[in-house]
Order: sequence, then structure tokens, then C-alpha cells
Amino acid sequence: MAIIYNEDKKVFNIKSKNTSYALMVADTGHLIHLYWGRKLESNKLDYIFKKYGKGSFLADTDNIDNFSIELNTVEYPTYGHTDLRSPAIEIKLANGTTLTDFRYENHSIFRGKKELRGLPATYMENDIDGETLEITLVDKLAELRIVLSYTVFEEYDAITRSCRVINNSNNNVEILRVLSANVDFNSNEFDLIQLSGAWARERHMVRTPLRSGNQLIESRRGASSHDQNPFIALASHDANEEYGDVYGLNLIYSGNFLANVEVDMYNNSRAQIGINPFDFSWLLEPNEEFEAPEAVLVYSSNGLTGMSHIFHDLYRKRLCRGVYRDKERPILINNWEATYFNFNGEKIKSIAKDAADLGIELFVLDDGWFGHRNDDTQGLGDWFVNIDKLPHGISGLSKKIHDLGLKFGLWIEPEMVNKDSLFYQEHPHWTLETPQRKSCHGRNQYILDFSNPEVVEEIAEALCKIIDDSYISYIKWDMNRCMSEVYSSIHDHQSQGKVMHKYILGVYRLYTILTEKYPDILFESCASGGARFDPGMLYYAPQCWTSDDTDAIERLKIQYGTSLVYPLSSMGSHVSAIPNHQTFRNTPLETRANVAYFGTFGYELDVNQLTFEEKEIIKKQISFMKQYRSLFQFGTFYRLKSPFTSNETAWMVVSYDKTQAIVGYYRPLQEVNVGYRRLPLLGLDEDKMYHVNGLDLYGDELMNVGLIISDSSCGENKDGCGDYYSKLYILKEAE
Ligand code: DGJ
Repeated sequence: MAIIYNEDKKVFNIKSKNTSYALMVADTGHLIHLYWGRKLESNKLDYIFKKYGKGSFLADTDNIDNFSIELNTVEYPTYGHTDLRSPAIEIKLANGTTLTDFRYENHSIFRGKKELRGLPATYMENDIDGETLEITLVDKLAELRIVLSYTVFEEYDAITRSCRVINNSNNNVEILRVLSANVDFNSNEFDLIQLSGAWARERHMVRTPLRSGNQLIESRRGASSHDQNPFIALASHDANEEYGDVYGLNLIYSGNFLANVEVDMYNNSRAQIGINPFDFSWLLEPNEEFEAPEAVLVYSSNGLTGMSHIFHDLYRKRLCRGVYRDKERPILINNWEATYFNFNGEKIKSIAKDAADLGIELFVLDDGWFGHRNDDTQGLGDWFVNIDKLPHGISGLSKKIHDLGLKFGLWIEPEMVNKDSLFYQEHPHWTLETPQRKSCHGRNQYILDFSNPEVVEEIAEALCKIIDDSYISYIKWDMNRCMSEVYSSIHDHQSQGKVMHKYILGVYRLYTILTEKYPDILFESCASGGARFDPGMLYYAPQCWTSDDTDAIERLKIQYGTSLVYPLSSMGSHVSAIPNHQTFRNTPLETRANVAYFGTFGYELDVNQLTFEEKEIIKKQISFMKQYRSLFQFGTFYRLKSPFTSNETAWMVVSYDKTQAIVGYYRPLQEVNVGYRRLPLLGLDEDKMYHVNGLDLYGDELMNVGLIISDSSCGENKDGCGDYYSKLYILKEAE
């Protein structure tokens, strides 16, 4: 049994392989958080909770002397009663008050996990994966209920949480805030880790000690965003990659989110994650329910690597779905940086022909194939082929590409429209626009109102037509602007606070239509690069274009940061041309591939322009990737040296049976007169002998003495000299 309930003590102990998460029902009916950390066998943890108060400014809860709930760790706090810290939920009642008071009503424990309606979520393949606890809290006066769900994935060592609000009253109420998870810690001895950045430099790791007050990250952009990822971790100050306590919270959601840690006056920390309450409100009518997205909670006592491994395994196996979940990903060529909008059928075929000769498996036709799109001012919304560019249509072109031995993939941006399009002429009021205000475009495009099911259905129909007529094995779904002037004409003025969330539900709806109708198509999500690299997207699309920045050196930070939560099999990574189109940097072809191997791998350059020598190198790269891609994409990933703290980056993947490993070592800038280096490895079998660098060394030597990186500074021969140096080390169990 993974979830133990002690009836006598009213204590729940939710246990996974190595973790316990415990809570209890106080005699006042409050749900009290007791513990989250290393596994505890005891189910008598009620002593952790003390009705405690202070002769201070605080009010006494329920007028019980010396009991102030604000001094306790509360499981799902409301605002206004006597806990005045950040609430998890706030609801405006018909009488205008915002005070709610939820107390325990009942609970149930069952094997397996329920689906979340219309929302992406982790799933179980069968009930063996774990158990679910549902606790119902009730506000008797307001006749409202909250159902808190906790699912434990025992072997994956993760807990997922969600929350449902039910209006059992006869009145409309307005949900102003409904977070998916709240965890109170009675300590502030943590660093906060977040993944922050901007377009073309997404998910850089930022680590800062907690300070007093609220420290929050959020998105208000309509997408989970480039600037912040819906992830935070609290790590003990001494936690590093291998050691120390780390508590990770990640939201399975692709829209506006909030992740907050409040350190209160008693140095307790309250960590929260959920839909951003900013500009959100949800009118809930009698008998209606609202379901909040799922949050994933991961604790590791084995540092950041331990946390990452739990996220990687859970997401690879119990969030991603479809035939590609466990399949090696095709090596693709994408024509975007090769041609931008400037192509025709002949050019595409010529790229595909050379790509096929190199051993590439999938051709992806990016933006510019539809409507009369010759630049970014036109065509979005017109999901039919541009006959001037591609006279044989997508069906003819995809057939031709298939005949060359390649699969064919197509770029779409279904949520957007250009005013210069037939679609806009037909549906000028299907965009999000605030009455009497100017609507601002982003990249000349406007946002279709995906909160309107009719819009979603119409776009689905147009896309299905194209897909049905052609040989399409892959779709790249892009989204290239943040949301402004948000207002939907199909909702009345009281329901405008729903629009941002309903929009994302519309996106999920279209993904559901397409993934159910075309189960064999591989979807890759994208939003101006990585503005929606979140677990919500991974449920539909098992890979995501990590960043528009294809520069290998910039990618070190981006891929390193992304790997904190997301597995390599989810990271779109391409070798592109030099000078790089974002940084104008010239990195060696070898380094570009050595970075891109640690992802889904592909090329994004004009192969027609390559020299004979470059083509020969690329052929070798492709056959190398084919040989090792299952190790790269499904092995266990370790970070060895951080690009955020030094001029060196190193990481490695190890096969599950620990018989093979590949180490990637990168040194962006040449240094002068530096010492001789060793790089201690991780994750090997200490008793196995590995062949590497011409030597046979035991795992314990490689992990303690380290791999000799002697060629990382200029020696007598000039091997390994120069900027942007990189090298892969292949380890194989010795015979
Ligand atoms: C942004 C994407 O991130 C790029 O890869 C490319 O698809 C362009 N959009 C096309 O407009």
C-alpha cells in the first residue's frame, strides 16, 4: 500500500519508493501538512502538529487560545480566516465576501488515477503504478467543496497533485485564485532554483537563497513563456548535483502560471504553483466544477541529478504518449534557416535529395508553404498550399519526398492569423480583441480566439484536409507571439477572466483532435523556439523545439538548464550553418553536432551548399547518431560541469545496463597555460571495466580519479586547440 491512513490519528502517509508526503486532519477539521522528504514508515506522525500560538499580532484560530493556524504548516490554505499568508485559493461569494473556510469532509483512497478533463496530465498504464488519495474539504456556509487529489507513482518516486472546486450552492461564485499545489516548510534554509531567460536564451538556471517575503515567477503572456518556466525547486544550501535535499514543483500547463515562495515572519516557507491568478477569474455557476491543472512534486535526497532523473523518467514514460514515446526519433532536416520563406518545390526537392544521400530520415517543410505567404505579413490562417511555390501541392511534394526515401513533415501555426489572408476576410471577428482598443500585432499576426470551440473546429477541419491528402509523418506546431488586448466576443463581460485559460483549453482540444485522429504522426511543439517548453505540451508532443538559438555554444546553457526537468528525448536540437544566424559565431561542425547529439538531433542548413568534405563529415555524424541515438535519447543523463559557472561544460549519458556511456566535453574559449585536467564521471558501475581513451579503467576509477581531459589545453601537438572546442568520449564495457 502506497497511501496509508491512520484512522485513529487521522494521518495520511503517501509513500513512494524513497519519499513520504504526510498530512493530517486536525480536530478543528483543518488539513495540516506534516512532512515531505525521505521515506518514513511511521503512520503516527500527528505529533508533528502542535496547536501553537504566540502572544502577538496574530488572531486565534476558531477563538481557541494559543492556536494560530498561521504558525502551522497548512495543506491548502485559504485567505482571510486567520492565516494571512498567500492563500492557495480565493473565492468571491455572492455576497461579495472573499472569506472561505474549508474543513475536512471525507476522503477515499483507490488504486490508479483519474483523468483530468480537457487537461494534460500524467497517467498510469495500469493500476500497478500507484494509488490516489482524494480528500474533500467543505465550506458548509458557502456550500462549496474542494477535492484535493494526490497520486503517488511509487516506482517513479513522484507525487502529482490537482484540485477541483465544486459549487454546491444555489449562487454563482467567482474563483479568483486556485493553485494546484501548496507546500509549507517550517524552514527557510533553502536556495530557490528557477529556469529563466528570454527568446533565444531560454531556461538558464538561476539559484538564489530565499529571503523574507514573496519571491515569485510567473507568466502573463498567454504561454508558459521564454522568460520563466513553470518550475521551481527548493534546494538545501549545500545541495549540488549529487547530494542534498531538493524539492521540485512543476506545473503541467502551457498558459499563464504563478510559482511563488513566501518566507513568513517565522521563517517558514510556503511554496505554491498553479494558474496565475493575475487577470484570472472563473465564474462558477451552481453545480459546476472547475478543475485546476496538475502539479508534479519531486523530492530527492540525491541532489539535482536525483530530482532530474525522477522528472525525466516520469515524463518519458507517464506523461509523453503515442507511438514515439519509446521510439528513437527520426533524424530530420528542417528548411527554415536554409531558405526562410524563399523556396519553391525544386529547391525543396534538391535539399531533400542531398539530405537523403546523407542518411537523413525526415524532411520538415517549415513556414511559408501555405496561402500566399512569402513573408511574415501574410497568409497565416490559410491552411491550403501556395500553388505558386509548390505547384504539385503538399500531396505531390510529400509523395516525391517519400520516393526519395524520406518521411515528410509540415510546419503549422494554427492559433494565428494575418490580416492579409482569406481566413481573416471571412472571419474578421474571430481574433482576440478588446472593444474600442487598438489590437497590436506581434510579427504581423493576430491571435485567433481559441476560447471559441467553433474556431478550433474550423482550423481542425482545414488541417485534417491537408493531412488527409498527403504523406505526413511529423508536424511542427509553432506559436509566435505573446497575447495582448485579450478579450473574447463570445463570452459576456463577467466571463472575460476565463479567456486566457479557455484559450489554452482550446489549444489542448485541437491537439487532442489531431493526436487522436493521427496517432502515427510525431508532433514537435514550438513557440518562437522554447516559449512553451512545458509538461503540458509534452503530453501531446513528445518533443519540443528547445530554442530558436541554434548556436552550439549558446545551446550549452539552454540544454543544460532544460535538462534540469525535461529529458533529452524532448529537446529538439539541430546542427545549423555558420556563421550562426543568431550569434554570427563560427563553431566547428564537430562541436555543433557534439551538442546536438544530446537531444532529438537534426540539421537546419542548406545541404546543397555543403562542400564534399563537409558532406562526408555529416554522413559520419548521422551514422554515429543512428548507432547511439537510443543511448542519447533513452539513457540516464548526468550533468558534470556547468556552463553557468565555468568555461567548461560536461555532461554524459549512461545506458540503463551501464555497459555504455558517452561523455560530452565542451570548452568554449581557449585558455593559455592551463593545467592538466581530469573529469570525474557519474552513474557508471564501479565494478565494471570500461574501455575509453585507449585504456581499460574501472567505473570506480572513472568516477573518482576521473577521465583524463588532457587534450583540453594546447599541448605539443595542436589537437584540441582553439575556441569552441569539444570532444565526445565513448565508454564501452571492456570484454
Ligand atoms: C519560429 C520557430 O521557432 C522557427 O523554428 C521557425 O519555425 C519560425 N518560427 C517560422 O516562422
